[in-house]
This record gives sequence, structure tokens and C-alpha cells, in this order.
Amino acid sequence: MRKYIVFLSVLTVFIYVMVLTGCDEESVSAVDTCGACHDASTEILALQIQWEASTHATGDAFERSSANCAGCHTSEGFREMLAMGGEPPSEAIDEGIDNPTPPNCRTCHQIHSNYDDTDYALTIETPVTIRLSGEVVDFGKGNICAMCHQPRVREPVLTVGGDDVEITSRRWGPHHSTQAAILAGTGGYEVPGSVPYVKQFVHKTLIDDSCVTCHMATAFGDKIGGHTMKMAHDSDTVNVSGCVFCHADIETFDLNGTQTEIAGLLDELKALLIANNLIDNSGLAVPGIRSSDETGSLFNYLLILEDGSLGVHNPRYSRAILQNSIEALR
Ligand code: HEC
Ligand code: HEC
Ligand code: HEC
Ligand code: HEC
Ligand code: HEC
Ligand code: HEC
Repeated sequence: MRKYIVFLSVLTVFIYVMVLTGCDEESVSAVDTCGACHDASTEILALQIQWEASTHATGDAFERSSANCAGCHTSEGFREMLAMGGEPPSEAIDEGIDNPTPPNCRTCHQIHSNYDDTDYALTIETPVTIRLSGEVVDFGKGNICAMCHQPRVREPVLTVGGDDVEITSRRWGPHHSTQAAILAGTGGYEVPGSVPYVKQFVHKTLIDDSCVTCHMATAFGDKIGGHTMKMAHDSDTVNVSGCVFCHADIETFDLNGTQTEIAGLLDELKALLIANNLIDNSGLAVPGIRSSDETGSLFNYLLILEDGSLGVHNPRYSRAILQNSIEALR
């Protein structure tokens, strides 16, 4: 049905172009142009089907289209943010977005700008600043992901051994989107402890396109990989195509028990945060003025929890952040 509607629309535009140009050579070149992408193949359809299954399409967070949120949650806000030189969304967009759309083809690609192959170019491929720490990272094609999948900046930014800090709300913390910072080994409250902070991990230094190499590896239907960007559908359907080049016989993400270990550290830290009245049993922050080590430990817990990879993105940095926070709270 969708293809049929698309076809009809293409035809309408085509006829319109023919009428406008009086069927001279220009319209012939328009056919050639459109045909480069709109032909009998299922290339576009396959990617649409994958995208439709992605959380980018199924999630409802794009309803967050007010100034502070639109830069990462709507396509329109993101394009505006890029036009403003990638400034933090809250500064780039004065007003909210009308008729918002979630991250989609037009967020990441130039669709219908030049009407040729260059339209599939990514809207940003240059290095990205992790706003929380100011560090500039280069994830290749993954830079576009890092624009949105990085922590939100909350004032005051925590400093080790700094002043007391007010936890202002139950949703206080680095937001749900901490992945790029963890990959880069930056953004944590680096309280001293028994585990050294080794920031660089091979998953950043050896994987040129970072996020894209693992998350967009060969698609399996609309379940994992490709434009679904999913790593797992269920325990039997895991996206290891991007791993096998380096981990030849991999069957689980929990290599050498890394995820089990990080999950254990998260549980241990959570128990300490509850015991210290920094979070409640439902995992939400308890507002109030607390020491920098206390707020820092809570921040660190949320940073690794929200990363969602249980250490796969950067096992060493995740381990150091959690273990040293545990020691600081004991
Ligand atoms: C570089 C590839 C490319 C070229 C060239 C191209 N299109 Fe498209 N077009 C797309 C993609 C990709 C989509 C799907 C966008 C989406 O799903 O959001 C699309 C969607 C459409 C749609 C469906 C409605 C919409 O906007 O989503 C129409 C109509 C359309 N194109 C017409 C044309 C016409 C007419 C031309 C030539 C003047 C053309 N396209 C040239 C890639 C292309
Ligand atoms: C415009 C900002 C933006 C860009 C660019 C972006 N994302 Fe997202 N991503 C989001 C938002 C927002 C969500 C959550 C959507 C929702 O729940 O409504 C999300 C969700 C996801 C999820 C699902 C997470 C979950 O908890 O289910 C994955 C995986 C993901 N993105 C990977 C990527 C990858 C890989 C890239 C780069 C190729 C990328 N994203 C680029 C904003 C973005
Ligand atoms: C720096 C980019 C960025 C900004 C700014 C931002 N978000 Fe998000 N947000 C994301 C990304 C990316 C995700 C998906 C993370 C994931 O699932 O791992 C997300 C996830 C969410 C989710 C969880 C979605 C779900 O379905 O589980 C909510 C709710 C949310 N954001 C609300 C907001 C609100 C409200 C604002 C503005 C006050 C905001 N966000 C500002 C990037 C951002
Ligand atoms: C969140 C960002 C994002 C969204 C949304 C997205 N793409 Fe992509 N797309 C990418 C990235 C990154 C690549 C590069 C993947 C690679 O090189 O392995 C890519 C690759 C492609 C390619 C191959 C490009 C080439 O040069 O051969 C096509 C075609 C494409 N996307 C079309 C689409 C269409 C159609 C949609 C909507 C249905 C879409 N994309 C949605 C990020 C995105
Ligand atoms: C080394 C491969 C690899 C790289 C590189 C990578 N990821 Fe992941 N990512 C994973 C794995 C594995 C998981 C955990 C999936 C699981 O346990 O179900 C994950 C989890 C996630 C999640 C949570 C997914 C969910 O469904 O809850 C998001 C969001 C995410 N990654 C985004 C990114 C972004 C953005 C980047 C780049 C800044 C990135 N990833 C780089 C492998 C990778
Ligand atoms: C470019 C090569 C490369 C790719 C691609 C890659 N890894 Fe790794 N990974 C490594 C190397 C090398 C190590 C060991 C690093 C060390 O100990 O210093 C490692 C370590 C790990 C670890 C920590 C446990 C251990 O054995 O040290 C996990 C977990 C992991 N990788 C999971 C994955 C998953 C899951 C994927 C795919 C989604 C993936 N990796 C993709 C190179 C890679």
C-alpha cells in the first residue's frame, strides 16, 4: 500500500514537472534523477521497514518537542541544532517545534536536497563535542549518533572534592542518553579509588565508525542490525555481526562475564545509594543538598545504568566508575 501511494505521488510530481517544462529535455533528466532511487528495487522499502521497527520510530519521546528537548527528540530540532553549529539544543531552539517528527530518514540524511546520490550523505560526520566534559570525539559515521546519545549538561557540573550540590528533582542526573560519553571514557565523577581510570578502550580506538559498526551491522529482518539499530531481539537473536571480525566465536555479549560483573557492581552501588538515602526503592533521586562525593556517586550510578550496555561499550571505564563510587560511599 505504502509503495503504491509513494508511486502515485512520484507520478503526480513527474507529470507536474512535465507540464511545467513542456516535456523538454529537463523533464527527461528529472525522470533519470528520480529513477536513481525510485525504481523497481526494494532498497528504500527494506530500510523503511527496518527503521519502522527501531525505537527511533516506535518511541513516543518525540512528543518532547519543547525548546530543551527538541534538539535530540525531534528531527526538526536536530536539523536546527546542526544549522546552529551543533550548539546545545536548549540554546539553539527558542521555541518548541510544531508538527514534530521523531528521528527519521530526514534527520540523518539529506533526502531530496540535490536529488542525486549525495542525498544519502549523513547530515553530520565531523567530530562531536561531549558537552558535559568538553572532550571532542571522532566516531566516524557514529558521530551523528553521538550528537544525541550523550549526557545532558546540568549546572553546576560536578567537580571532585567540590562544594555541596543540590539534587533538584527526582529525575536529577545525566539523562538516559549517556552512551557516547562512556564509549569515550569521559563525563564521570572521577572520585579516586582502587581502580585507575583507563579511559581509552579498543571499542573506541579500533572501531572506526563506532556505534554504526556494532548497531548497524548486517540486518536480520526487522529484528536486529541495519536501520533497526538494535543489538538484541531476544536471547537467541543477538546482533554479533559487528563483533566477529575481532571476537571470532562470540555467541553472547557477556564475554568473560563482563555484563554479569557490571550488573553486580550496579546492584551493589544501588544498595549503598538507598542506604544513604540518595535514591528511593524505585530508583528515583531523593532531592536535597548533599556532598560532592555523594551526588557524584549517584551521578556515576545513573551514567552507567543509562548507558544500557552493561559495560560492553567501555568495560574498564565502567568498572572504575562503579567500583570507586562504591568505595566512596562505604
Ligand atoms: C537519493 C535518492 C532519491 C532521489 C534521487 C529521489 N528520492 Fe524521493 N525519496 C527518497 C527516499 C529515501 C524517500 C523515503 C523518505 C522517507 O521514508 O521519509 C523518498 C520519498 C519520496 C516520496 C514519498 C513522499 C515523501 O516525501 O516521503 C516522493 C513522492 C518522492 N520521493 C518523489 C521523488 C521525486 C519526484 C524525485 C525526483 C525529482 C525523487 N523523489 C528523487 C529518495 C530519493
Ligand atoms: C536526533 C537524535 C538522535 C540521533 C541522531 C540518533 N538517536 Fe538513537 N535515539 C534517540 C532518541 C530520542 C531515542 C529514544 C526514542 C524514544 O524512546 O522515543 C533513541 C533510541 C535509540 C536506541 C534504542 C534505545 C532503547 O533504549 O531502546 C538505539 C539502540 C539507538 N537510538 C541507537 C542510535 C544509533 C546507533 C544512532 C546513530 C546511527 C542514533 N541512535 C542516532 C535520538 C537519536
Ligand atoms: C542531548 C540530547 C537529549 C536532550 C537534550 C534530551 N534528551 Fe531525552 N533522550 C535522549 C536520547 C538519545 C534518549 C534515548 C536514550 C536511550 O534509550 O538509551 C532519550 C530518552 C528520553 C526518555 C526515555 C524515553 C523512553 O521511551 O524510555 C525520556 C522520557 C526523555 N528522553 C525525555 C526528555 C525530556 C523531557 C527532555 C527535555 C527536558 C529531553 N529528554 C532532552 C536525548 C536527549
Ligand atoms: C539515526 C540516523 C539514521 C536514520 C534515522 C536513517 N539512517 Fe540511513 N544511514 C545512517 C547511517 C549512519 C548510515 C551508514 C551505515 C553504514 O555505512 O553502514 C546509513 C546508511 C543509509 C543508506 C546507504 C547509504 C549509501 O551511501 O549507500 C541508505 C540508502 C539509507 N541509509 C537510507 C535511509 C532511509 C531510507 C531512512 C529512513 C527509512 C534512513 N536511512 C534512516 C543513519 C540513519
Ligand atoms: C562494540 C560494539 C558497540 C559499539 C561500538 C556501540 N555499541 Fe551500543 N551496545 C552494544 C551492545 C552489545 C549493547 C548491549 C545490548 C544488550 O545487552 O542487549 C549496547 C547497548 C546500547 C544501547 C542500549 C540499547 C537498548 O536496547 O537498551 C544504546 C542506546 C546504545 N548501545 C547506543 C550506542 C551508541 C549511541 C554508540 C556510539 C556512541 C554505541 N552504542 C556504540 C554494542 C556497541
Ligand atoms: C575492532 C575489534 C573489536 C570489535 C569489532 C569488537 N571488539 Fe570487543 N574487544 C576487542 C578487544 C581487542 C578486546 C580486549 C581488550 C582488552 O582487554 O584490552 C575486547 C573486549 C571486549 C569485552 C570485555 C571482555 C574481554 O574479553 O576483555 C567485551 C564484553 C566485548 N569486547 C564485547 C564485544 C561485543 C559484544 C562486540 C560486538 C557487538 C565487540 N566486542 C566488538 C575488540 C573488538
